Amino acid sequence: MPDKYDFLILGSGGAGLSFALRVARYGTVAIITKKDSAESNTNYAQGGLASVLDQQDRFEDHINDTIIAGAGLCHPDVVKMVVHEGPDVVRELLDWGAQFSSKDGMLDLGREGGHSRNRIVHAADRTGKEIEQTLLTAIDDHPNIRIFEHHFALELITEHHLGRKVTRRESDISCYGAYVFNTRSDKVEAICAKATLIATGGVGEAYLHSTNPSIATGDGIAMAYRAKARVANMEFMQFHPTSLNIPEASSFLISEAVRGKGGILRDRNGKAFMKDYDERAELAPRDIVARSIDDYLKKTGDSTVYLDVTHIDNNILSESFPHIMETCRTFGIDIAADWIPVVPAAHYLCGGVLTDIDGRTSIHGLFCAGEAACTGLHGANRLASNSLLEAMVFSKRAAVKAAEYIADTHWITGVPEWDDTGTVNMEEAILIYHNKQELQQVMWNYVGIVRSNLRLERAFRRTHLIYEETEGFYQRTRISVALCELRNLIANAYIIIRSAMSRKESRGLHYTTDYPLPVDEARKDTII
Ligand code: FAD
Ligand code: SIN
Repeated sequence: MPDKYDFLILGSGGAGLSFALRVARYGTVAIITKKDSAESNTNYAQGGLASVLDQQDRFEDHINDTIIAGAGLCHPDVVKMVVHEGPDVVRELLDWGAQFSSKDGMLDLGREGGHSRNRIVHAADRTGKEIEQTLLTAIDDHPNIRIFEHHFALELITEHHLGRKVTRRESDISCYGAYVFNTRSDKVEAICAKATLIATGGVGEAYLHSTNPSIATGDGIAMAYRAKARVANMEFMQFHPTSLNIPEASSFLISEAVRGKGGILRDRNGKAFMKDYDERAELAPRDIVARSIDDYLKKTGDSTVYLDVTHIDNNILSESFPHIMETCRTFGIDIAADWIPVVPAAHYLCGGVLTDIDGRTSIHGLFCAGEAACTGLHGANRLASNSLLEAMVFSKRAAVKAAEYIADTHWITGVPEWDDTGTVNMEEAILIYHNKQELQQVMWNYVGIVRSNLRLERAFRRTHLIYEETEGFYQRTRISVALCELRNLIANAYIIIRSAMSRKESRGLHYTTDYPLPVDEARKDTII
């Protein structure tokens, strides 16, 4: 592979691919992705992308809904900008060839929790797949863009690799590309770039139960943290209320749009319990629904609740949710006749690498967009379907700034080769797997929907042990993706726990029994 590009993109989800299409006219582009190019959270998105497109809808309403969900931590300038740019990015996706669901020649706009209007652009219940495939097709054979599948980004190249000591307080760090592990050839290569984009997505894999595919190990956030970039609001992990609760169906989501169409949450006796918690019932924002289910399960001792759509017209179900219907059927559930067993699961990280309103991080030449970023849009809780929107809008703005940046920048020389002297082949790969399982269990049990000082301290101690063991492996053994992902998960877990410990209040997605209410003086971002 040539080792120099104008733009280096880490990740091939919605944020990375759309950035590539936007910058390709300004220079050469390499996209690094650790599995097949389509494997990403984007590919699994169901509900859709929120945007003000209906005559009856207003920008102010979408802004207001986003700010209400964000529980006091949204940055109003960012919310306003993103909401106003929404219709343009939808048009851009349509121009690239996306086929969204329509009715009478108009986009069919769905409804989800926390939204006061119908504004969810979707492709039935496979919106993410439509977006991912559209972007990949648009990129196909583009003369300036190369995708490197099965390449794992290991570390960002900064002054640190050029022999200069970099401290965490440093404000003058630059990124010159990344070390990348080619998992087919088993070699680490340095790729130099004038501008680098982190688009590596979230970290659902840190939790035992998650809606995310296994790529979601927070690699970009961990790399940025190690490179001493600023990272923010990591305590705000969003739990989706309804993931399919069947052991064989790990990580399958039942979209919020199902509740938007009238799905009712029931206990095993048929009681619709959500009204006891919130007058908006099933359409309350998802943190409230997830916490209500968690509370209800703890009170009743049950292990599941059910989503009932049996009263909804069969044609509507099969038209709106063909993928959910089909998947449930493979597990023996006919959603037109049976209730769907559901429980909450880790779903979306609101925090991430801190960026400004143009996707710039605190490191020169390093940009971030999508779920890996903390842009100020979501605050303490994300409104449904605002993340595909955020990924598209921020990749667009970052593309403009990255193109400006490379005009004035040269490739760095003298980047040393990756040094793995003294390491040997891993003999006990099973230990990595055990450590990962233990970490996921700790995060699920102690850093989940309901937290407390005691639980967080326990999580911190347990995670530290796993960290020490894993660092020992890392020093001694040759690079493997499993080991690097585990290191990255631990780094994310550490930041999540530290951030949660430092927030002495409950706000948005962070709920702790020791400080059950929001506190005005604590209403600020957690920046590390
Ligand atoms: P991703 O799409 O996750 O892409 C990350 C990419 O980085 C992947 O290609 C991955 O392989 C690659 N990568 C990661 N680490 C490395 C590494 N070390 N080296 C190389 N490559 C790497 N949001 C909405 O707005 N609406 C929805 O309806 C919706 N539904 C969802 C349903 C599900 C089941 C899930 C899991 C999420 C959903 N979300 C939804 C959230 C949304 O899909 C994601 O936040 C968004 O797609 C993230 O896009 P991204 O480009 O930032 O990251
Ligand atoms: C869903 O379809 O419920 C997911 C929507 C989202 O995460 O925004």
